Amino acid sequence: MGKPVVIWDKFIRIYHWLIVIGFTLNYFVLEPGETIHQWVGYCVCVLVFARAVWSFVGPQRARLNDFFPTPSRISKHLRELKSRKIPKESGHNAVGGLLILLFWLLFLAQGVTGFLLEETDTFFGSTLVENIHEYIAHCLFGGAIIHILAVFFTGWWGRIELIKPMITGRRN
Ligand code: HEM
Ligand code: HEM
Repeated sequence: MGKPVVIWDKFIRIYHWLIVIGFTLNYFVLEPGETIHQWVGYCVCVLVFARAVWSFVGPQRARLNDFFPTPSRISKHLRELKSRKIPKESGHNAVGGLLILLFWLLFLAQGVTGFLLEETDTFFGSTLVENIHEYIAHCLFGGAIIHILAVFFTGWWGRIELIKPMITGRRN
């Protein structure tokens, strides 16, 4: 086994596990719409915003230009998957990049629809906005399931350690 490679910086790791906790609290645990639900939701939005800034100023693998899903990167990743050889220095693959951008958008949309529901006269308690808010939450849940399955599948099939670097930062 070679020397471990540093893959994820501390900010990315803390960010990741905090949004997992925040989403789980708001989706499964807390009473929908309660003050604590609103605060947790806004915290997740602030985290996503900070992550977006980090994608311009953070280390190379954290940057948007490292995982932005261009067609050529997507086909490169599919070739690597086909040959079951994913380079061990890899950051996010481009298909994962698609899901990351989708997560960012959906979390921010959760913040906006939640704000409309709670803080504006026009949309206060609006059934339409509430349905949109609920629908986005289910899409996030669906996305998370796909994401978790993809992490396990890619790790096993592509013979690459994915989960440990998201905990310790390093890959062997
Ligand atoms: C609510 C559930 C979850 C959400 C919303 C979520 C979201 C995300 C996001 C947004 C990223 C990109 C991180 C970045 O900004 O650079 C990511 C990466 C990652 N997540 Fe999750 N995640 C969830 C659950 C999990 C779970 C349960 C696991 C472990 C089994 C996991 C393992 C990973 C790994 C390994 C990566 C990095 C993948 C790679 O190496 O490219 N996630 N996740
Ligand atoms: C991580 C982000 C969030 C998630 C996953 C989430 C999830 C949910 C879910 C699943 C519901 C239940 C929908 C239903 O059955 O009608 C709900 C309701 C609600 N959420 Fe959120 N939410 C988030 C952020 C926010 C934010 C930032 C706010 C506001 C500031 C907010 C305000 C509300 C309100 C007012 C309701 C309606 C409660 C009611 O039924 O009266 N949410 N949310």
